Amino acid sequence: MGTKLIIDTDPGVDDAFAIALAALSEDVDLLGVTTVFGNVPLSATTRNALRLLALCGRGDVPVAAGAERPLVYPHPHRGTYAHGADGLSGRAEVLPQPGRELEPVDAVSLLVSLLEAAEEPVTIAPIGPLTNIALLLAAHPGIREKIDRLVIMGGGLDHGNTTAAAEFNIWSDPEAARRVLVEEHVPCVLVPMDLTHRCAVDADWLAKLAASGSVGAALNGLTPDYVEYYKKALGFAGIAMHDAVAVAEAIRPGILRTEELPVEVECSFGPSRGATVVDRRRPALRAKMNQDAPAVAVAVDTDLDGLRGFVLDRIAGGQS
Ligand code: BDR
Ligand code: CA
Repeated sequence: MGTKLIIDTDPGVDDAFAIALAALSEDVDLLGVTTVFGNVPLSATTRNALRLLALCGRGDVPVAAGAERPLVYPHPHRGTYAHGADGLSGRAEVLPQPGRELEPVDAVSLLVSLLEAAEEPVTIAPIGPLTNIALLLAAHPGIREKIDRLVIMGGGLDHGNTTAAAEFNIWSDPEAARRVLVEEHVPCVLVPMDLTHRCAVDADWLAKLAASGSVGAALNGLTPDYVEYYKKALGFAGIAMHDAVAVAEAIRPGILRTEELPVEVECSFGPSRGATVVDRRRPALRAKMNQDAPAVAVAVDTDLDGLRGFVLDRIAGGQS
């Protein structure tokens, strides 16, 4: 039944949209959700994930909590400046109570058991810091063959959002990101903020979401703090639904156009810590300089209106 998917997440307003997109898509077999620190502390991201699944009527989906901090160094600060104090614009308590208990195992253990039980390779959509995924691949190298693709929201080609150079998910745990993107040989699609910003939706889109039904209205209700932040970040009245763009690719492979490009992650402590260095020189020049590193499929373009319509239709109950 459809794409087998696991979401690793730190909800987060755009994570909320991404979870709803997957949870409400009839052609997706959402096997589980694992949580990680990030936009808010782990206790809050986990509560938010459980409540968001309850909102979508998906109490059948198991949820396990993972890393509460980065692999090596402390997390300098949370993403509350964009997502509000509780990660959902101060509205988490408005969501329904969780439809099930948290799994009694950690995120890596749940990932391993779901992957081992799956009869076909599974897509994982990491849409927060990459700590859980780095731990999974480090501790269970043989599990790679059970992973179809990692469709990762993260990185920036031209600039960052948390710092001038670094995007939040990669900046939150650069060592984990480097392990996953550079050192592991798992097929990866990287969905950077350059493209997710271009996919931003406006007030009209949000009004249609709010009018689409009870889930859409509840999701729109989670956006006030996020909308305020994105007025400044984008320079116009809209929001970037970053994580939903990555999940769209996870459930509709090819909805984003990708290019195979070498990616490095800056792990030094200078002003570029957490930057993704994506080599966009012509391949012939890279090869001549003997600098052709392993490539990642980097999402560079899409039919912007088509993508926005796809997310809206799916959350509204249409199955385009
Ligand atoms: C990413 O950072 C988080 O704040 C969002 O949820 C998204 O995953 C965007 O940079
Ligand atoms: Ca996120």
